[in-house]
Amino acid sequence: MTDVRHDLVIVANRLPVDRVTLPSGRQAWRKSPGGLVAAIEPVMRTHGGGVWIGWPGGAGQKLKPFEDEGLSLVPMSMSQDEIEGHYEGFSNATIWPLYHDVVAKPAFHREWWDEYVNVNRRFAAKAAELAAKNGTVWVHDYQLQLVPQMLRDLRPDLRIGFYLHIPFPPAELFQQLPWRRQILEGLLGADLIGFQLPEAAANFVRLVRQRVGHKTHRDLVYLPDGRTVRAAAFPISIDSAGFEELARSPEVVERAKALREALGNPRRIFLGIDRLDYTKGIYARLRAFSELMHEGHFDVEDAVFVQVAVPSREQVEEYRILRDDIERLVGRINGDLGRIGRPAISYLHTSYPREEMAALYRAADIMVVTPYRDGMNLVCKEYVACRVEDDGALVLSEFAGAAEELKQAWLVNPYDINGMKSALLEAYQADQKEVGRRMRAMRRTIRQHDVKAWAASFMTQLEDVGVHTKNPHPATKS
Ligand code: F6P
Repeated sequence: MTDVRHDLVIVANRLPVDRVTLPSGRQAWRKSPGGLVAAIEPVMRTHGGGVWIGWPGGAGQKLKPFEDEGLSLVPMSMSQDEIEGHYEGFSNATIWPLYHDVVAKPAFHREWWDEYVNVNRRFAAKAAELAAKNGTVWVHDYQLQLVPQMLRDLRPDLRIGFYLHIPFPPAELFQQLPWRRQILEGLLGADLIGFQLPEAAANFVRLVRQRVGHKTHRDLVYLPDGRTVRAAAFPISIDSAGFEELARSPEVVERAKALREALGNPRRIFLGIDRLDYTKGIYARLRAFSELMHEGHFDVEDAVFVQVAVPSREQVEEYRILRDDIERLVGRINGDLGRIGRPAISYLHTSYPREEMAALYRAADIMVVTPYRDGMNLVCKEYVACRVEDDGALVLSEFAGAAEELKQAWLVNPYDINGMKSALLEAYQADQKEVGRRMRAMRRTIRQHDVKAWAASFMTQLEDVGVHTKNPHPATKS
């Protein structure tokens, strides 16, 4: 039991840093992958004084709480069984595909569910131990959907927020889940449930009405115990000013120039940066690009594609298959279309620090973001923030949450390869006036809705729920 208690507790499956073993055998910390960490870290830094509970990666690592660059971190260890059942299994082979429009077939296993419940219970107990009286706990993402209610049972004094970083599916898909009611009831332990888009919030409220039978009105759910829960959209964003500043730094400008030279100074550089995930549509996008080259619209002197594939969930079967498929495709494309010292696709299976990402964004003329389904996608927002000269084209999937805001992108249906080819070609051929007009509009949007505004609006509404949203259906004894 710790005696230091905190007014703000962040609970996420992962800590912002990951414990890794280097080739030398030495252990080190590395920044964790994904949009969640990119979004929450600046929020924690500006708030100060809070604590972050999460898994440091790896099995059975019993680490003590520590500080990392000013953040207070509390590591939660996971056993091998928990990693397989909770993380690789229920979170990433059941919920992940189910919530992403069943892009891959979700697997339902009762042992995985049991581990998911265990891990959620341990995270809830730790949050209950660390939160100050009447404090605020903000729980994040699909790996921890049971934590809000578990935590409320332990600490009814707390204000509890939950934010889902990924899509929330329509009822037709969600109801496949054997534990659908438990998930809905778990989430309802929160005072405020945040989603990326209004449709996701509406899906949730409809399901609560149909499956749990609670009264609802617009974005409010009225619980029989007198509590009111709000479910609303809070589209997440990035630290726009931070990225812009980084992109303007002489080091990044220099590095972007060096990258272009290393790529042979082609007329146009296409860029994709994604976690290596089957939801991201990497395979289809590379095929579309290579077909354009095969058809003679451009060759390797004119254009190259840089694809950064950030390693992710490598123990999960679907992810291994995907990696093999993509790497085979890249090999074939380069074999058919490349020349000595000039591959058509520069493929990098790695993750890069922010500075290198900013340099890549500055070096690329056309950013290609074509997921089959994505809660938001922050990479495209980072690209826009880094285009400080108001140039650069964005080709963006209609099925990324960001498409709601970045309407001036070349929007594509990632299932339609011919449609994608047309959009890539249009972006390649577009005159700079048109590119600039679109980019200026997108930059205005990104500046107005940055991650600080996102966090502030969630926190303000979290404080308001219950105070300004009285339940007109007070507790009835049954
Ligand atoms: O934003 C979605 C998300 O799944 C986060 O919850 C997660 O931390 C990130 O992507 C990266 O995935 P993982 O933690 O499985 O490596």
